[in-house]
Amino acid sequence: MPSSKIKAASNASIAEAARLLADGQLVGVPTETVYGLAADATNSIAVRKIFQAKGRPANNPLIIHVDSEESARRWVRVDHLEWLAAQWRRAAAFWPGPLTVVVPRSADVVDEVTAGAPTVAVRVPSHPVMRSLLAACEFPIAAPSANPSNYVSPTCAEHVRQGLGDTVAMILDGGECECGLESTIIRLRRDGVELLRPGGLSVEQLQDAFGCVHLPHDDAAKAAGDHSRPTDPVAPMPAPGMLAKHYAPTKPLRTVEAWRPTDIEPSRVARIAFAPLPDDQAGRFGWYRTLSSSGDLNEVAQHLFTAIRQADATGCELIVIDRCERTGIGRAIMDRIDRAAG
Ligand code: TXA
Ligand code: MG
Repeated sequence: MPSSKIKAASNASIAEAARLLADGQLVGVPTETVYGLAADATNSIAVRKIFQAKGRPANNPLIIHVDSEESARRWVRVDHLEWLAAQWRRAAAFWPGPLTVVVPRSADVVDEVTAGAPTVAVRVPSHPVMRSLLAACEFPIAAPSANPSNYVSPTCAEHVRQGLGDTVAMILDGGECECGLESTIIRLRRDGVELLRPGGLSVEQLQDAFGCVHLPHDDAAKAAGDHSRPTDPVAPMPAPGMLAKHYAPTKPLRTVEAWRPTDIEPSRVARIAFAPLPDDQAGRFGWYRTLSSSGDLNEVAQHLFTAIRQADATGCELIVIDRCERTGIGRAIMDRIDRAAG
C-alpha cells in the first residue's frame, strides 16, 4: 500500500477525510485514546465494511463518536426515565474525553452499529483533529480501534497502516495518541454505573461523580489479588468485545513475576520495563525498552501498545513486562497486560 494514504492533519486533509466518509469509505482517524477505523455511522453498507476490514464478529457492536452531548441525544433515549437523564448528565460532564457510555438507543441508530442490541455506546472524543473531522461531517462516526480483530490497538498512524492499510481510503495522521489505551466504557444504572471496560478515565473519577461503580466479577477478583483470570462464562458481560482474548501480540507475553530465567534465558526475552532497570540487568535481555524515565503510569499507558508491537517484531521468543497496582490508570494498564498475557 502506498504510504501516501497517511495524510498529516490539515484543513484540507480533514475535509478530504469527511468527503471519503460521506462517500461510504473507511478512514483511519486519531483520537486521544487510540486510532479508530471510521465510517459514517448512518450508512449500513459503510458500517459493514468495518466488520469486514477488521475480521470482527458481527455480534460485537461499535462505538459512535459525536461532537457534543447535544449531538449524542439524537442517537440515545435517556429522557424517558428521570434517574437515567440524571446519570447521563453526570457522564456527559466527562466529555470531551475518554469515556464511552452505554445507554438505550434511539430508533435512528442503524442495526449494524449496535449488532441488534437495544443499547448504543456513545462518546465525545477530545482529540482536536477528530473534533474538527466530526464538525466537518453531517453524521456521527462509528469507529472501533483500527486494528485487525484481536491484535493490539494502534496508537499512531503507522500502526493503522501496518494492520489495515489496504482497507482504508486514507489515514488521518494526528500524531501519537495522548492516552494510549482505549476509553473507559460504562453502563448507567439507577444506583451508579457498571464498569464494562477500564480505560483512559479512572474508576476513582467515576466513583467521585457517581458514588458507586460496579466492577465486573473477574476485575474485582483480580483486584483482590487473584491473578488466575477466572472469567465466568455465564456471568452477564455486556461488552461483547471483552469476552474475546484481546490486545494480544503474536508472541507469548508474561508479567515479570511469571517468568523464570531458567525457562527462557534473558537473551531470548524482549523486556518491557515501566521505569529504567539498572544497566547490569537491562543488558542481559535480547531487547529492552523503558516506557517512562520515572515510572509515571500515564507515560506507561501512552507507550505500552507501541512497545508491545515493537517487542512482537523482534527475534525474541517471549515478551516480559512489569506490573503495577490496579489504581488510577493502573487498572486499565493491568487489564490490557492480563489480556495480552491470555
Ligand atoms: O477508545 C476507544 O473506545 C476507541 C476509540 C477509537 O474511540 N474505540 C474502541 O472501540 O476501543 P472497540 O470497538 O475496539 O471497543 C468497543 C467496545 C467493544 O468491546 C464492544 O463490545 C463494546 O465497546 N460495545 C460497543 N457497543 C456496546 C453496547 N451497546 N453494549 C455493550 N458494549 C458495547
Ligand atoms: Mg478494539
